[in-house]
Amino acid sequence: ANFSDPWAGYLDQAQTQLASASLSRLALLVVINLPAIAVALNVLYQMLPRDRSLPPLVFHWIPWFGSAAQYGQDPVEFFKACREKYGNVFTFVLLGRRVTVALGPKGNDLVFGSKHTIVAAEEVYSPLTTPVFGKDVVYDCPNELLMEQKKFVKVSLTTDKFREYIGMIEDEVTQFMDNDPAFRIFQLNDINEWGAFSAYKTLAEITVLTAARTLQGKEVRSNMDKGFAELYHDLDHGLTPLHWMFSNLPLPSYRKRDIAQEKMSQFYQNILRSRRDSNGDYEDDVMASLMTQHYRDGRPVPDHEIAHMMIALLMAGQHTSSSSTSWVLLHLADRPDVTEQLYQEQVEHFGLPGGGFRDMTYEDLKKLPILEAVVRETLRIHAPIHSIMRYVRSDLPVPPTLGAPTADSCYVVPKGYTVLASPALSQMDPLIWQNAGVWDPARWYDQHGMAAMAKAKYDEDSKVDFGFGLVSKGTDSPYLPFGAGRHRCIGEQFALLQIGVIIATIVRKIELRLEGPFPKPDYSSMMVVPQEPCQVCYRRRKFD
Ligand code: HEM
Repeated sequence: ANFSDPWAGYLDQAQTQLASASLSRLALLVVINLPAIAVALNVLYQMLPRDRSLPPLVFHWIPWFGSAAQYGQDPVEFFKACREKYGNVFTFVLLGRRVTVALGPKGNDLVFGSKHTIVAAEEVYSPLTTPVFGKDVVYDCPNELLMEQKKFVKVSLTTDKFREYIGMIEDEVTQFMDNDPAFRIFQLNDINEWGAFSAYKTLAEITVLTAARTLQGKEVRSNMDKGFAELYHDLDHGLTPLHWMFSNLPLPSYRKRDIAQEKMSQFYQNILRSRRDSNGDYEDDVMASLMTQHYRDGRPVPDHEIAHMMIALLMAGQHTSSSSTSWVLLHLADRPDVTEQLYQEQVEHFGLPGGGFRDMTYEDLKKLPILEAVVRETLRIHAPIHSIMRYVRSDLPVPPTLGAPTADSCYVVPKGYTVLASPALSQMDPLIWQNAGVWDPARWYDQHGMAAMAKAKYDEDSKVDFGFGLVSKGTDSPYLPFGAGRHRCIGEQFALLQIGVIIATIVRKIELRLEGPFPKPDYSSMMVVPQEPCQVCYRRRKFD
């Protein structure tokens, strides 16, 4: 024992050293292979039998990241591919969230029509919008208050106001075409020469100017060329998928966003103060109307909330309207035959005997079937918002007609998931629309087109009031570019007017052509905008 003891100690030590060396080697191996192990475990997990009440899970290799790349690159194609594999209801992983997609008119109904106690928008959208709009409005307040805020704004979007806006929008477009470098060839007054401009960039500028002149008021419009445009850009750069997923990162775009929000809020509050000091000597616009409103509990709307609502309106209308208007223009450039019909419609209604046009009126605009169809059809194919999301507050049963695990059971979307509807997909569904992928405005007015529309009919008559006026229920419609239910758009009538007047004014003045292939949609920002280059060629018309 005496002889063997020192060896035993040495062996023990060597064994321990060996063990710890292999442990650290193992640890090193594990660390190096951690990503592979995580991927393997994630794949294994997806192969295990699942709770049958859960909607099918879209296969993905990387945990947490999930299907973010496919969804981010082309959400519409991603949904189509998943529908082929899993049906109308399925769940995918998006940067740690579980998102259950509900497709088709019944999916629209589930997301737009479910009760607010069960599905809510604020949990999903607030991280993106609150740092940009500001505190206490839209998704940074209880939903009942949002309904009241929507009512306050809606009362100032009246037909009388729209009558005034038409001339203002026409005037802004005319001034822009007469002065902006994008229309240099137009300004040369030579009807034989062709020029070109970027549809999206140019229409984005025209849209913000027309919105400033009408909805935002005189003070905002007159500041557009001073500091306002810069603040607007910094705020706008805070509305990206990155800012949505991570609402606060130590990056310059976040710092600029926060500084711009503070300055913009002060800018509006200064206007409010000087309006109050002026004893009512200001225009009767949206801001003026908000200054007189009271919440149901008798409380007037505080200045910071008015300021933040004005910012929200500016941002909500900008990309939606500008992308829609640029898609309209691109399609018109691609289809000179439709542009000619549209031009002839203008000549017929507004043409003057010696050439040129008389001013448009609100009543006239309502009687222009080709202009209306061109806008409607563009919103069908290019809905600017491809994903409408809600946070699931308590378990949400999926109607079996949408999809079910077996004939006598149903899927349940668990609390904590996000549900997503995509009217963009139902608006392009070949099962509903004839030649679904073809831009064909005639489907909205000629006999052949109307027959196809009749097949897509839904209940337009039943109305419901969520606190901001009656809206058609229509949550199960296949055509919902402005959404439905309590979060339905309140800017629809204004947007249709704005887009219609901008397009009519441009088409009166120039011919359009597309050079090169039709631009593809760019899904990398929050809205579906045309990918650059999206040049439109133009030539001045003889009479404008
Ligand atoms: C809501 C589309 C223009 C203000 C919505 C929604 C959609 C939509 C789909 C519903 C979002 C959801 O359910 O999550 C559009 C389109 C537009 C447009 C396609 C133009 C072509 C405008 C304009 C304004 C505006 C010009 C402002 C004047 C709003 C507001 C909401 C809304 C305040 C309500 C948000 C809520 O209740 O959660 N819009 N919009 N929109 N939109 Fe628009």
